[in-house]
Amino acid sequence: MLILGIETSCDETAAAVIRDGTTIVSHVKATSFDINKKYGGVVPDKTAREQLQFILPIIHEALAACPDGIDAIGVTYGPGLIGSLLIGVETAKALALALNKPLVPINHLVGHIYGNWLTATETKLTFDLPTNPPSFPALVLIVSGGHSELILMSDHGKFKLLGSTLDDAAGECFDKCGRVIDLPYPYGPYIETAAAKSTGKIKLTLPRPLIHHRNWDFSFSGLKTAFLYAFKDAQVKGIATEDFKAALAFELQEAVTDILVSKFSRAAKEFNISSLIVAGGVAANNRLREKLRSTLNSELPTTKLFIPPLQLCTDNAVYIASAAFFNYHPQSIAKITADPGLNF
Ligand code: KG4
Ligand code: ZN
Repeated sequence: MLILGIETSCDETAAAVIRDGTTIVSHVKATSFDINKKYGGVVPDKTAREQLQFILPIIHEALAACPDGIDAIGVTYGPGLIGSLLIGVETAKALALALNKPLVPINHLVGHIYGNWLTATETKLTFDLPTNPPSFPALVLIVSGGHSELILMSDHGKFKLLGSTLDDAAGECFDKCGRVIDLPYPYGPYIETAAAKSTGKIKLTLPRPLIHHRNWDFSFSGLKTAFLYAFKDAQVKGIATEDFKAALAFELQEAVTDILVSKFSRAAKEFNISSLIVAGGVAANNRLREKLRSTLNSELPTTKLFIPPLQLCTDNAVYIASAAFFNYHPQSIAKITADPGLNF
């Protein structure tokens, strides 16, 4: 079965075709990077206007890989920015109507998880894919720009939310802190670049909120504030050098990854699970990937850990099409509407 996925929940405009939920047939995306960079972040109406220009050529390119057509369409209907979501949802509805194909609405957060279900590619792109998809029950950690969630997944479409962030998401914490120390847009990934420049000569300590609490919730806003004051204090003292910024970025990355890895591995030991799944843009952070692998491989050597290949961590349509295959519940076009506040 060939499913066309469409994703426009934030600043990416993406389309992809997936065969039987696991094989990448095409993977196309455009980002409003230049506009965002100019304004220092996503400006929703400007992004949506740009997505309006991108959407048809992107879908056209994704469909070019399937001369015999597709069987169904999956589209992100929330959560996200309303203007952006509307472009994907309304385009998908028009296409479903014109091609007379079923349309499957997908929650963006559920979509992220399916970045771990791809096992083969028919494209020329190189992905580091697993040989088999995850097995159930699975413990899922979603870490993105807007969400940090721990979830038990007993089957496709069967989720139990264990905990989530009480305030900021992990990605948001990286982004805001990157901005504080004047890193380039999009800030978060540059925390990793800045941290790599730390020489270890300046030692700083930031808090690790809720790390030892016997619950599954996260909190990152206090860490963000501590980062801000550590930097302001250094500015007042005249010691906010590039070395200091690198040391601060390093410690922030250590604090966020310590919290995520510690809670994830504790939950993994508490529940009887078969696989461990990580998803979301922050899963692209190499220090997080490295710490997850080393901690979980030594503490739970028989439980397989899944982290998507780097290209499938941040927003894309591959995982939306895969999620639509494994959660195949087409709905009538009239009933599908964009839902920016959709929860897990
Ligand atoms: O999943 P995603 O693409 O969009 C949302 O659904 O939010 O995640 C984007 C988030 C941003 O906060 C971005 O800064 C973060 O993922 N991110 C990273 C890295 N790459 C992306 N954070 C830390 N290190 C990275 N290498
Ligand atoms: Zn996302």
